[in-house]
Amino acid sequence: MAKSNLSFPEGFLWGGATAANQLEGAYKEGGKGLNLADVLPGGKARLKLLSQAGFDFEMDTTKYSYPNHEAIDFYHRYKEDIALFAEMGFKVFRLSIAWSRIFPNGDELEPNEEGLAFYDRVFDELHKHGIEPLVTIAHYETPLHLIKEYGGWKNRKLVEFFERYVKVIFNRYKNKVKYWLTFNEINGATHMPLFGLGFSPTSEETRLQESFQGLHHQFVASAIAVKLGHEIIPESQIGCMLIYAPVYAYDSNPENVMYAQQESRIFNNFCGDVQVRGEYPSFINRYFRENDIDIAMEDGDLELIKEGTVDFISFSYYMSRTEKKKKSPEEVGHGNLVGGIKNPFLEASDWGWEIDPIGLRISLNELYDRYQVPLFVVENGLGAYDKVEEDGSVRDDYRIDYLREHIRAMGEAIDDGVELMGYTAWGCIDLVSASSGEYAKRYGFIYVDKHDDGSGTLDRKRKKSFFWYQNVIETNGEEL
Ligand code: BG6
Repeated sequence: MAKSNLSFPEGFLWGGATAANQLEGAYKEGGKGLNLADVLPGGKARLKLLSQAGFDFEMDTTKYSYPNHEAIDFYHRYKEDIALFAEMGFKVFRLSIAWSRIFPNGDELEPNEEGLAFYDRVFDELHKHGIEPLVTIAHYETPLHLIKEYGGWKNRKLVEFFERYVKVIFNRYKNKVKYWLTFNEINGATHMPLFGLGFSPTSEETRLQESFQGLHHQFVASAIAVKLGHEIIPESQIGCMLIYAPVYAYDSNPENVMYAQQESRIFNNFCGDVQVRGEYPSFINRYFRENDIDIAMEDGDLELIKEGTVDFISFSYYMSRTEKKKKSPEEVGHGNLVGGIKNPFLEASDWGWEIDPIGLRISLNELYDRYQVPLFVVENGLGAYDKVEEDGSVRDDYRIDYLREHIRAMGEAIDDGVELMGYTAWGCIDLVSASSGEYAKRYGFIYVDKHDDGSGTLDRKRKKSFFWYQNVIETNGEEL
């Protein structure tokens, strides 16, 4: 263990992060309705579907497997899992509520009691161990009925259904949950509308128009949720959730610097500006004009957005992005999920995601400089192949190295003056990958015996990183 020489504030919220659809399984139990993740195939086919237009949301079990159906069976094993989180010393656990457990179709008037009772049990178990829940209200889990019947978030009706859903969960869990996030990685919407907005673009030509319209509906819905949350749970803290990837210019050519700045504004800043400052930023007008985007708004929307600003910014950080105005075909498509061209200074993970801890310090400083609200890193981690040794151990030193450098970067950013509430490592227990639908892409401190061919006992096992993270939490980041 190396002494870090960095100090994290007292009460810093160390923990781990997950999402219902990637963890719970039991996809038809407890009255749950189907949602988006239930119809997404596992394996390579998934990413392709996510990035192209025209997915029909039908399952084809003759061709594909559907790993989210069983996931890692947290639905039945949550007590064992939460005990392991407690053993690591978690102060906070990020999870999402699956909307279709509460409203199986999404448009009912009355909620499903069994679904509500499940999360009561989970929150009670967390509190029993002194762990604070951090709840994402919508994490890539739009009820399937809202997708098929209404066209997902393109349709304004979803605002009303979402309002009903958040009213129910705020009232039900008002004494159990203080930290909330509205929409997971809201700014990923234009990139992969299927995930966040619950629709597949009609065509490539309509992608931007439909996505920004869907985003507007989510801004309104998020603002309603923030206002309601503050009324129903006065001590609540409600954040937005961004996917943040600082954009570097490939070189000092001013054309490239300008291009990188523009890309960063649209991808990284637009949603935060709306949700934190409560206004559409002026730079978006030109972008809308040049891309023929015309947002339909209702009277009162802009006032609502102004009134429903978030208390803090949470974000996921996995990689940075390097940009150049004129890219040759060979330069693009190198595996970095957020695009750009290959950065010659960075190594990449087995899935091609560029590893850049300094980028996290840059992100924290950029966000804090721009907004001056507390920040929360609610996702970060290394998806990697793990091997179980003959003696049963998993020696994931590569994951420890990755996390150590990113935690160090957070410490540096705190020293730079950034106000940081906490850190929840993504996939603290192995789960189904969102973009690739694989079990093999593992992030956890806890190994789950489950494989892409469907085999496995689902048994849990502590990896080397489990003990390492336990010590990090115990020493409040002093020993990394
Ligand atoms: C984020 C999502 O984009 O990245 C998570 O919020 C996801 O749901 C995580 O799992 C890691 O991505 P992946 O594709 O490796 O699971």
